[in-house]
Amino acid sequence: MSNPFHLGWFLQGSSVQAWGEPWTGNIGQEWMQPDLFVDMARALERACFDYILLEDSSYIGEAYGGSREIYLKNGLSVPRQDPSVVATLLFAATKRIGVCTTLATFTHHPYLLARIIASLDQVSAGRAGWNMVTGSSDMAARNYGLDGLPEHDLRYDMADEYMACVNALWDSWEPGAIVADREGGVLVDHTKVHTVDFKGKWYSSRGPLNSGPCVQGRPVIAQAGGSPRGRQFAATHGETIVANPKGIAAMKAYRDDVRARAAAVGRSPDSIKVLFLVNPIIGESAEHAEMRRLERIAAADRKIVQRLAHFSKVTNIDFGSMDLDKPIDENLRTNGHQQNLDTLKRLGAGGKTLRQAFTDYSGTGLSVDLCGTVDTVAGQMAETMQEIGGDGFLFSMGDVSRRVVAEVADGLVPALQARGLVRRGYDHATLRENLLAF
Ligand SMILES: Cc1cc2nc3c(=O)[nH]c(=O)nc-3n(C[C@H](O)[C@H](O)[C@H](O)COP(=O)(O)O)c2cc1C
Repeated sequence: MSNPFHLGWFLQGSSVQAWGEPWTGNIGQEWMQPDLFVDMARALERACFDYILLEDSSYIGEAYGGSREIYLKNGLSVPRQDPSVVATLLFAATKRIGVCTTLATFTHHPYLLARIIASLDQVSAGRAGWNMVTGSSDMAARNYGLDGLPEHDLRYDMADEYMACVNALWDSWEPGAIVADREGGVLVDHTKVHTVDFKGKWYSSRGPLNSGPCVQGRPVIAQAGGSPRGRQFAATHGETIVANPKGIAAMKAYRDDVRARAAAVGRSPDSIKVLFLVNPIIGESAEHAEMRRLERIAAADRKIVQRLAHFSKVTNIDFGSMDLDKPIDENLRTNGHQQNLDTLKRLGAGGKTLRQAFTDYSGTGLSVDLCGTVDTVAGQMAETMQEIGGDGFLFSMGDVSRRVVAEVADGLVPALQARGLVRRGYDHATLRENLLAF
């Protein structure tokens, strides 16, 4: 039997989900209310997931065709609420599952960020994670009064300093600072709460943090940098990594690389859990699953423009100006998600058309293709983990519906549990302890 592995869910933002499609119920304004996400969090907690990662960006796309039209018309990542509000509601509805909230370094001063995430860690009794992102679009930067984002690798240098600042703020309350001595009349021992006086090249903060300490000491840090500089950052600071390399060999190489980099900076590689994005196709029988696979490919093809618009948003490249039936321009560059663009270009090598390459890129699976009955898919997941060595999967099922969530939480997960591949109950109260449990 394999070692157990971890499960997470990559939720595409606190936004409207798959507007107008079957099974979403999104016919009116109900996307403004958190019920779908709350139901989802409860289902995933029943399935003993480690965490939900709430993805985010803070602008309306307009890279595709130089217009917001396609994004607004189709509800592509818009309207989208602030993720910390939704995270709070998910915590209120659950007791054990973690929530990693995405907040970008350029949208929040380190003090504000440290305070929000510490507050989330408190209200959740130690279940908060922060998905640390540096942003990928100048449009978002302009919403915050900046001219644009710094250059890709410089963003990570700045992020190293940002981490030092928020860590200092989280550490500004020593363990044991809260004495709560009613007889002595002392709530907090003031000698254990310290000025930080952080002065860096880009960020400064005096401290201490007025929110008080995180329950976990520091929150869990999630990260998704796929470029070499991004991986270095992830290996230095990350505790769980969202990874999207394609195919078993690339997945193994990615994890091995992150673990080697972690060891090189003096960390235990086992303190980082690399979770790979998957989007399984589940059927009642092998034939049914195959039918659904073909349906998914057909739907992806029908919606290629919307999907490319999403890709335009994360790379700031106007794919709307390109001919779908011509080869991809090898000279495309991005200051946004570099790894994603590199993967697309690799898939397009040898003169494949943009349509073909993009269908390969986003048509069916993500890291690895999973397709079949719940038992077959559970077996495929077990084999994948055995070959790679760990650490688990992050379900990224596109826009969610209650049906999709049920297929995983009430269909696939029991099959995984029956094989002893995932947990049947939470052994610990905090997100970090559960992540480190195996
Ligand atoms: C699977 C995945 C999820 C990501 N989620 C977010 C997100 O929610 N918000 C965001 O601003 N960036 C997100 N990113 C972007 C990364 O944080 C990072 O900025 C981007 O991958 C560029 O880094 P790289 O060039 O090192 O790969 C995500 C990236 C990947 C691969």
